[in-house]
Amino acid sequence: MSNGSPKREVSDLVLYRRLLGYVIPHAGVFSISIIGFLFYSLGNVLLADLTQFLLDSLGEASTVSLGLVAGAAHWIWPPGDKSTLDYARIAVPAAALVLSFGRAMGYFVGNYFMNIVARSVIHTLRVELFGVMMRAPKNYYDQQSPGTLISKLTFNVEQVSGAASDALKVILREGLTVIALVSYMLYLNWKLSLVFFAVAPAIGLVVVVVGRHFRRYSRRIQDSMGAVTQVSGESLRAFDVLRIFGGQAQQRNQFEQASLFNRNQSLKLALVEAVSTPVIQTLLALALGALFWFALDPTILAGFSAGSLVAFITAAAQLGKPVKTLSGIQSIVQRGLAAAEDVFAQLDTPAEIDRGTTPIDRAKGFLELDSLSFSYPGADTYALRNVSFTVRPGETVALVGRSGSGKSTIAQLLLRFYQPDTGEIRLDDLIVDEYRLADYRRQFSVVSQEVELFSDTVRNNIAFGGLGESSYDQILEAARRAHAIEFIERLPDGLDTRLGDNGAGLSGGQRQRLAIARALLKQAPVLILDEATSALDGESERAVQEALESGKNQQATLVIAHRLSTIERADRIILLDKGEILAQGTHEQLLGSSALYATMYRQGSIEGD
Ligand SMILES: Nc1ncnc2c1ncn2[C@@H]1O[C@H](COP(=O)(O)OP(=O)(O)OP(=O)(O)O)[C@@H](O)[C@H]1O
Ligand SMILES: [Mg+2]
Repeated sequence: MSNGSPKREVSDLVLYRRLLGYVIPHAGVFSISIIGFLFYSLGNVLLADLTQFLLDSLGEASTVSLGLVAGAAHWIWPPGDKSTLDYARIAVPAAALVLSFGRAMGYFVGNYFMNIVARSVIHTLRVELFGVMMRAPKNYYDQQSPGTLISKLTFNVEQVSGAASDALKVILREGLTVIALVSYMLYLNWKLSLVFFAVAPAIGLVVVVVGRHFRRYSRRIQDSMGAVTQVSGESLRAFDVLRIFGGQAQQRNQFEQASLFNRNQSLKLALVEAVSTPVIQTLLALALGALFWFALDPTILAGFSAGSLVAFITAAAQLGKPVKTLSGIQSIVQRGLAAAEDVFAQLDTPAEIDRGTTPIDRAKGFLELDSLSFSYPGADTYALRNVSFTVRPGETVALVGRSGSGKSTIAQLLLRFYQPDTGEIRLDDLIVDEYRLADYRRQFSVVSQEVELFSDTVRNNIAFGGLGESSYDQILEAARRAHAIEFIERLPDGLDTRLGDNGAGLSGGQRQRLAIARALLKQAPVLILDEATSALDGESERAVQEALESGKNQQATLVIAHRLSTIERADRIILLDKGEILAQGTHEQLLGSSALYATMYRQGSIEGD
């Protein structure tokens, strides 16, 4: 089910330490939360202690100490000449009120402040992960499907929140309660308390074994969520194909498989969880049984007042709930850790390589490709082999060749999305790797084979990203030159019309014209057009062609096309086949010199008008 996301075994300690690194900036809020939980667990213990105060006040046996609460009450409000019963009638309810209120406040502060920390950690993680995705090299996206990546941003990060908020809250609250109760029992009678320590190793063993299972199932649940997102995303996007080619059953089957796997793994996790809690509870009950047996031993009994014995047993009985909750929270912790493992592995994705240090404002646009050879990562054949050619400022070079001959790959290398295996590319006489990557990419305007639009206004789609500063007139001018203005004016809100996902609501040619307008607006020194006008009718194409040419004067243009009208105007045509340059020259020269070119022309791979 896994889609090749990196799987590593990382020790829990490393994970915890790294998670802690995200908590440290919120140390202040975190401390307040801990103080809150301290109050809460202290409240729990003191409420148990209050029973001693109450019971021992009944017997007038005030020679024996009445416990912690009674001690504090006497100190705050000395009883004077009141009888023990009269004193207790006021002091016990008052103490109960104060303690309950303190515990409630502690609960609120502890929980809410822990949530602040947890939600902030999630926010940071999510934004960091998105940042990594924005900086990741192209092959990161070749390896992982968008569906799985989205599920990491949504599901996995949220799982970490389980560990960071729910679990941390419970561990602190219940853990402190356990510590407080045990300390109190030790304080009352340490020997009797040892009974509980006898079962501790058994409980520990259950926790460790169960934890391992939890982790394994959590990883699988996580991967299956990726698969669910992937299949559903794909199916929703490919509505037309699905309906026409009858793919519903197949996709539904895939989805069911993914969802079923998720269900089964979740059930296994639930099974382990459902077994572990009663086992731990039984162990505790055994300990409690043993405790009663020992407690009722006359020699031990002698050391207790009735009140302190009841307080001891109340405390011991109170241990059950937090221990149960603590063991139950394991599944959430393990889910969180499994998710953290994956999120951290993603966060460690190296950014795009950028060793360039030379800044560049505006290049002249003199491009040289020198003996480039390249194969895609993992592929065993060359996508490009020993490719050399130049494009000068003001020149238009056309790339032609059969599908899969490597035309788009040249554009990919030019844009530094991949590194050539051998050979080099130079811009204005400097090897491109030497330029700062962001500066370098600013030198290119690209209309790629597949148009990408955003769910934003038409205006923002044209003036996208770094073009955001463009004036209204510049945008209008670019739209006009791209022959887009006629249809934009017919849209309900003109330039301010919002587009759907990837420009839904526009025709293929309209989408392409927006992409052309975006490229024209950029006015970069190098223009790359990869089948940029393939969806336009002949008339629009000619008009756009003229616009592109009128603007080009100093621009270096690399155009990939099948239409003769586009190619003919090029200063040079380069014929590629299986990644190699077979011939270059003008249309007439190639017709004479290259059999492949002549065949392609005859067969219509290069379409004349
Ligand atoms: N991301 C990728 N990973 C692996 N191989 C790839 C990748 N992209 C393209 N290829 C392979 O590289 C070769 C060249 O592909 P390229 O996209 O450059 O062809 P093209 O000439 O642009 O074809 P078309 O005219 O169909 O657009 C093809 O064999 C293709 O299968
Ligand atoms: Mg292509």
